[in-house]
Order: sequence, then structure tokens, then C-alpha cells
Amino acid sequence: MAVLSLTLLAVGCGDKDTDDSGDGATVDVVSEILALQGDETGGEALFASSCSGCHGVDGDSGTAPMLSAKVPDASDDHIVDVMINGIGNMAPVSLENQEAADILAFLRASF
Ligand code: HEC
Repeated sequence: MAVLSLTLLAVGCGDKDTDDSGDGATVDVVSEILALQGDETGGEALFASSCSGCHGVDGDSGTAPMLSAKVPDASDDHIVDVMINGIGNMAPVSLENQEAADILAFLRASF
């Protein structure tokens, strides 16, 4: 059963990374997210539910690195990549594309 679930997971990931045109081209999820218009108000709520557990409610009071020290120098591309792919000791966060765009808008408005 465990093997079956793993297989299904792998298939699920594969689906997410490829477009459905049938040519197997890899869709750049980061670019897709960057093309969206983020909503900073929605992003604030999403930050509270998805990020504040480690980074603190204000982004600077958690166990994870202070976002005020990270966000201003980071490109949009990098921040989105960190959210969806993780970095170092931070695991990827499961987010819809629009949710990631909203959180980015909130971070840009806050730091
Ligand atoms: C389970 C804990 C956890 C959660 C949840 C989490 N982070 Fe992190 N985050 C970390 C840790 C730990 C690091 C430091 C990673 C390292 O450098 O090893 C980090 C690093 C970062 C960095 C800095 C990356 C860099 O270039 O150094 C950013 C930006 C960031 N997180 C944003 C977010 C956002 C936005 C969310 C919510 C979508 C989020 N994090 C959710 C733990 C978390």
C-alpha cells in the first residue's frame, strides 16, 4: 500500500510539472506564479496560516530567519522558488499558484 501511494504521489508531481499539450514540455511554475497579480490582503491571511508558524506572525519573531533581513535583497523569482521548492532547512510549502502570488505581494508590501 505504501508503495502504491508513493507511486501515485510521483505521478501527481509529474502531472504538475508538465503541461497538457502532450509534448512533455516542462512548465516553469515559478514563471506562472510571477505572471499573476498578487493580492496583498489575501497574502497576509495566507502568510499567517502557511508561514508564521516558523517565521513568526510579523515574519521576524519565529525560529526561522528574519524575513526583514531576507526579503528586501531577494528577487521575486527567488522568493517564489523558496516557497514552492523550499531551501536548505525549509521544506516546500504546498500552495496554489495564486496563493504564492498573494504571499509575494504581502511580503513586498511588508518588508
Ligand atoms: C516549517 C517551517 C517553515 C515554514 C512553514 C516556512 N519557512 Fe521559510 N524558512 C524556514 C527556514 C528554516 C529557513 C532557513 C532555510 C535555510 O537557509 O536553511 C527559511 C527561509 C526562508 C526565506 C529565506 C530564503 C533565503 O534565501 O535565505 C524566505 C524568503 C522564506 N523562508 C519565506 C517563507 C514563506 C513566504 C513561507 C510561507 C509560504 C515560509 N517561508 C514558510 C522555515 C519555514
